[in-house]
Parts: sequence; structure tokens; C-alpha cells
Amino acid sequence: MVETVTIEDVQLVLSHPENFTMEWIGNQYYVKQLLAAWLMVDKQDQPLNPRVLGPPGIGKTTLACAAAKQMGRPVYIYQATADTRPEDLLVQPVISARNEITYHASPLVTAMLKGSICVLDEGNRMSEKSWASLAPLLDHRRYVESIIAGIKIPAHPDFRICCTMNNDASTYEIPEYIHSRLQPQITIEFPDREDELKILKFNLPFCGDDLLNYVVDFLQRAHAKDEPFSVRDGINIARYCSKLMVSEVKDLADMPDFVQRAVQQILGEKAIQYLSNLPVSTKEILGPDRSLNEILNVIKKPTKSPPRKNSKEDWRLVSEDLGEGDDEWDAGEDDELGDVPDDDDNPDRRET
Ligand SMILES: Nc1ncnc2c1ncn2[C@@H]1O[C@H](COP(=O)(O)OP(=O)(O)O)[C@@H](O)[C@H]1O
Ligand SMILES: [Mg+2]
Repeated sequence: MVETVTIEDVQLVLSHPENFTMEWIGNQYYVKQLLAAWLMVDKQDQPLNPRVLGPPGIGKTTLACAAAKQMGRPVYIYQATADTRPEDLLVQPVISARNEITYHASPLVTAMLKGSICVLDEGNRMSEKSWASLAPLLDHRRYVESIIAGIKIPAHPDFRICCTMNNDASTYEIPEYIHSRLQPQITIEFPDREDELKILKFNLPFCGDDLLNYVVDFLQRAHAKDEPFSVRDGINIARYCSKLMVSEVKDLADMPDFVQRAVQQILGEKAIQYLSNLPVSTKEILGPDRSLNEILNVIKKPTKSPPRKNSKEDWRLVSEDLGEGDDEWDAGEDDELGDVPDDDDNPDRRET
């Protein structure tokens, strides 16, 4: 059902609140800081507008929504982008089927009108022009002015706002007058091992402890080396790994191989170095400095264009490198190799 509010004779159609439930696991001090910033200690007091900082995927949006939930109020998320214009943030005109203009309040303005909480997500992706339209909202004035609708919209006394910001390179510099209005700063650090395991268990209750412990060990090693691998990456790795294992019907003994594959596909080959306890065969194959692709190429080489004669000896050289036995290469197997090149096509063979 469409809900509307009329301000200065202009009817605004309201947005819908988020209906998911987000829970913050681990360090509750962050939640306390957010709730403290929103608290009113006196009638003459006013709430602060905290800013949650940290690398992508560390839990900023989750923290803001979980704190909002603890306030017992609906939460509205506004996802900022580099294309966000002031009217997107506030009120947008929409032409109806009967050629009439209706004005739609953004999630932010809806939260202002309903006395709810707005999470302005990834705010530093917005340009200064958009920030400027929020300046009066973020100080003692607590209102916005919609140029398009021609109205001034005051915030309900219970309205609260929190802005999350990634500290990656793909963002704008926030102007100083906005910086000073978005305080305090709450910086999220990577969780310790115990909390990280709890977070993974909470988000992936269907995954076994062995898998989650293995992924958490990986993340902790990467955090110690200041790698930007986040909780979200860990969740994606464990999730993908469990899908691979189920789809390929493998048992637990193969788990490290699947985690390795998931890490490689999600974070790239360099990340593999932070995995531990690779199965003996994989460990031997990998060696300290060799990338997985190199290894796979080595393994594939003899099957691609094996020489017709002396193949058993040639293969043995490779398979000994890899720690494999002879017994896979019985005399009869040469015949199953399929499109073996003629000796004339094989420069190595011509020399012998
Ligand atoms: N402390 C935490 N408690 C619960 N889930 C968390 C926590 N930290 C991270 N997550 C999970 O990690 C993922 C990424 O979190 P998100 O809030 O989207 O990160 P960000 O906003 O920093 O990019 C989500 O799936 C979220 O559920
Ligand atoms: Mg986020």
C-alpha cells in the first residue's frame, strides 16, 4: 500500500523500509558507540551523525543496520553512488499514467518524516553537490530543502542517520564542512580469530566447523599481513567451497583442495599463500614459489602431446617431480591417448 505525507500542500509518496534482520556478531563496543552517538541526554541535546569507516566487506552496513534494529526503529538504506544527484537523495518527480506529477520521497527523506533511521551507505561515493543538500540536515537545523518540490522538510525528533564509508580509492574526498558534521568516526578493525569464526558460523550455519576453521585461519594470516581480504571474502570462499563439494560429491578429506580453488577464483592466486595444511600431494606439487597455474600446466603437458615412443620414461620424469607412482602408466595406456601427433610433427622426435 502506498503511504503519503503532505507538506506545504505537496503530497509526498513514501519509500519502504528494509525488512531484513541484520545481527552484529562479536565486538559489541562498536554498537555501543553508535547507540551513544544517537542518544539524547537532555531536551536541549541533539543526536550526532556517526560515520562508520573501514575496508569493503568488513561489516559496516551490517553494524549500522544492527544498531538501528537495537533502537527498535525501521531502517531505510540509501545506497550512494557517484551518480547520486541532490534530487535523488531528497524528492524525485515521477510522471504518472494520467500525466500527473507525483513526488516521491527518497528513503532518507522517508526516514526523516517517519522518525526512523537512515543508513547512508557508502556516502563518500557521492559528489560534493549532493553532500551540500544535506548540510542543514546534519547540524542543529535538521531539515532539507527540496528545490524540485519547492518545500522545506523538517526531520522528526526521532530521526537518526549514520553514514558508512569505504576507505578504498574509488571514492570522492568529502568536503571539510561535511566532515565536521559527520561525527564521531567509528572505525571497524578486522575481528580476532574467535569473533571471525562466530561471524562465519552465524552467516553460514550449514557449513561444518572444519571448513570454517580452515577459512578463518586463512583470513587471520592475511589480516596479519595487512591484506585487504575481508569477512565477506571469507563468507564467499566458504560458501563457494561448500557448493563445489556438494556438486562434486567429495568428502571432507578433499576440503583443503576445494578451499584452495575457491580462494584462487575469488581472491586470485596470490592469496593461496595464506592457506595452511595443504594436503601432502598438493603441498609437494605447489612448492614454495610456484603458482597453481604453472603446476597445472606441468601436469597437463604430457597428456597434451606425449611422444609416441619412450613415453613411459618421459612421463616418469614428470610424475617423479610431482611425487606420483609409476603404476598409472601401464604399457597399454599409450593407446588411449588419442590424437598423438605424428613423429614428423614433433620436433623433439626428429632429433632422436
Ligand atoms: N560482525 C559481524 N556480524 C555479522 N555479520 C558480519 C559481521 N561482519 C561482517 N559480517 C558479514 O559480512 C558480510 C559483509 O558485511 P557488510 O556489512 O556488507 O560489509 P561492508 O558494508 O563493510 O562492505 C555480510 O554478509 C555480513 O553479514
Ligand atoms: Mg556496505
